[in-house]
Amino acid sequence: METRQLLETGMIEEKLEDSGAQEVEYSMTFLDESYMPQIMDLQEIIVQNLSRQDMLQAFSYDFMKEHIGPKGFIMGIFAGKRLVAFRNVYYPDSQDAEWNLGIDIGIPDKELSRVANLQMVCVHPTFRGNALASKMNRHALRLLKEQNTHYHICATVSPYNFWNVRILLKSGFVIRKLKDKYGGKIRYVVYQNLKRPIQFEVETSISARLNDIEEQKKLFSTGLCGVALEQLAGLESAPREDLAGCFNVLFKKLKLDHER
Ligand SMILES: CC(C)(COP(=O)(O)OP(=O)(O)OC[C@H]1O[C@@H](n2cnc3c(N)ncnc32)[C@H](O)[C@@H]1OP(=O)(O)O)[C@@H](O)C(=O)NCCC(=O)NCCS
Repeated sequence: METRQLLETGMIEEKLEDSGAQEVEYSMTFLDESYMPQIMDLQEIIVQNLSRQDMLQAFSYDFMKEHIGPKGFIMGIFAGKRLVAFRNVYYPDSQDAEWNLGIDIGIPDKELSRVANLQMVCVHPTFRGNALASKMNRHALRLLKEQNTHYHICATVSPYNFWNVRILLKSGFVIRKLKDKYGGKIRYVVYQNLKRPIQFEVETSISARLNDIEEQKKLFSTGLCGVALEQLAGLESAPREDLAGCFNVLFKKLKLDHER
């Protein structure tokens, strides 16, 4: 990956301590190993600011570094010289039961070498609200499509991470499963196929609360997929910390391959 290649530039808002904001220039590029200290510092700030500690699986220095090179790539967004956001993509080994999320959702063995994960995304708290995660997802998915080696794209996200669930659904993923990962942390496994867009049976759709884990598990076990979030009427002004209680997940039935 050519690390100096500029992926995007523009203006974003930085929130200031006095509750004001200022416009700053940003640029998006790939990150090479020389940026590892900045990546790890930003991950640490994010971990310190999580509203629930189980929402993020922090990476060790060595595992983060593995994402740069043959096993993946990391893209970052700079405001001036400050790294304010990054997104990494990982190509897991076919038999890696922890990180090959294709195994979790039943992708056939011979296709597991085609799985890539949108692995971790972090935006500095003072730069949130600029859709930086969506912008990086868009470039990551475009690049994966152009490379054409990995087309089963997966990610995990906590059902309590309302913001990232919404971003992933808008980036074209559907929720295929809800299960314990990473030593007992509850996670959605989301999926999209860059070669064959997913199709649904139009007549089936049903909803469950975003924070009703047991009900959702039942729906996933019947072959339904989560496809959108719907805000519950009357709860529009609920506190940000409790957003998972204010949304339903809309489920639809996948059209099976042999029916298409
Ligand atoms: C998920 C994340 C990357 C999204 O950041 P983003 O791209 O800036 O999000 P958006 O621009 O789509 O934000 C839309 C709105 O939600 C708000 N928002 C986003 N993330 C938020 C969070 N974690 N807590 C509270 N509000 C948040 C934004 O401020 C914005 O509000 P506004 O419309 O009033 O300005 C960011 O929340 C984050 O870094 N979270 C911690 C790390 C994480 O959980 N990563 C995912 C798992 S790997």
